[in-house]
Amino acid sequence: MESIESSSGISRRELLKATGTIAAASALAGVVIPQHVYAGETNTIQVALVGAGGRGTGAAENALSTKLGPVKLTAMADVFPDKLKGSFDSLKGKFKEMVDVPEERKFIGFDAYKQAMDSLKKGDVVILTTPPAFRWVQFKYAIERGLNVFMEKPVTVDGPSTRKMLALYEESLKKNLKVGVGLMCRHCEARGELFNRIKDGELGELNLLRAYRVSGPTGSAFVNKKQGDISELMYQIRNFHGFLWASGGGFSDFLIHNIDECCWMKDAWPVEAKGYGGRHYRGEYVDQNFDSYTVEYTFADGAKMILEGRGMINCQNEFASYCHGSKGSAVISQSGHAPSGARIFKGQKMTEDQVVWRCKTPEPIHISWNGITSCMPSARTPLTTK
Ligand SMILES: NC(=O)c1ccc[n+]([C@@H]2O[C@H](COP(=O)([O-])OP(=O)(O)OC[C@H]3O[C@@H](n4cnc5c(N)ncnc54)[C@H](O)[C@@H]3O)[C@@H](O)[C@H]2O)c1
Repeated sequence: MESIESSSGISRRELLKATGTIAAASALAGVVIPQHVYAGETNTIQVALVGAGGRGTGAAENALSTKLGPVKLTAMADVFPDKLKGSFDSLKGKFKEMVDVPEERKFIGFDAYKQAMDSLKKGDVVILTTPPAFRWVQFKYAIERGLNVFMEKPVTVDGPSTRKMLALYEESLKKNLKVGVGLMCRHCEARGELFNRIKDGELGELNLLRAYRVSGPTGSAFVNKKQGDISELMYQIRNFHGFLWASGGGFSDFLIHNIDECCWMKDAWPVEAKGYGGRHYRGEYVDQNFDSYTVEYTFADGAKMILEGRGMINCQNEFASYCHGSKGSAVISQSGHAPSGARIFKGQKMTEDQVVWRCKTPEPIHISWNGITSCMPSARTPLTTK
């Protein structure tokens, strides 16, 4: 970052190029841009939104809310006209002339992503927030076009698409593109400090991690029978959390945050997994999700991670991640995404009288999807592909 701040006469596009890495959250997060860099209109970063649903609209808001310099939303793409219209109306109402998307730059259909990206210049930013099935196809095109990317998690739906994505990641590095992914917990100061303390050896060797996202039925993972004259394909895309090809299912979409924060603390990815799940209480729902999931992951050093996921009524609810080391244990997060409540205990008993550290910086009470960057500004650890 020092070389960037001390450089002069550099354009905003060149500057984004110079920071090429995969980092969590907003496409513009973590980039400190000096005032003189973006004085002229020609330096305006153009943003295209591909997938104008709930999170896409929120991510566009994040991008347009940046204080880092002139940014405009200039193109939008979706497969459903009503989704695009709803998103456009909402963004236009809030951001006025920063939303410069005339009819000819509103694209509908399965090639709409290409048309939206074709309207950008090299070094601009594209937001990819469609169902994950389309992510690698769109990321590939963004790399070909030399665009910086913010894309939502999950970025893949299965083994083959994961391998494709890892290869594309290497391509993006070669082009020095900046790529942000919506695992916003990576920007949490409390979790970041916990990670640093674990690296400093405060917990000793981490040998067990536990992650839970067990609650009542999560709406979008429970899909009703198709009705009306919508095609089967468009119905499944509209209800993507219910279909494995489209999203990896609720397992992938909802449990990813807990899996990711545990792997972050362990500073490793598992090398083995064995799991099972059950489907007993689906009633008339036609989606492909289970009611419950359990997975035992093993890391290369033999350490274990236990994951439990569930969507059933009248059961215990918990949305939390923990880790246990040879010298102590820690809460990674305990009440959803925020506040994390991260803290360290001197032994394995997680009681208040055993607490030896908790983060002094006040944590946000709640992460609004439209305020990820403002709530959690400091990226501590870039996402690596170990
Ligand atoms: N970081 C987080 O915690 C978080 C929170 C919410 C959603 N998300 C992620 O964001 C993504 C989108 O989720 P959402 O809740 O906004 O869903 P959504 O259904 O509201 O939005 C998806 C949009 O993509 C459009 N679309 C579908 N296929 C398309 C295609 N081929 N080309 C162009 N547009 C297409 C849909 O019509 C829809 O408007 C998912 O990957 C989801 O997991 C992440």
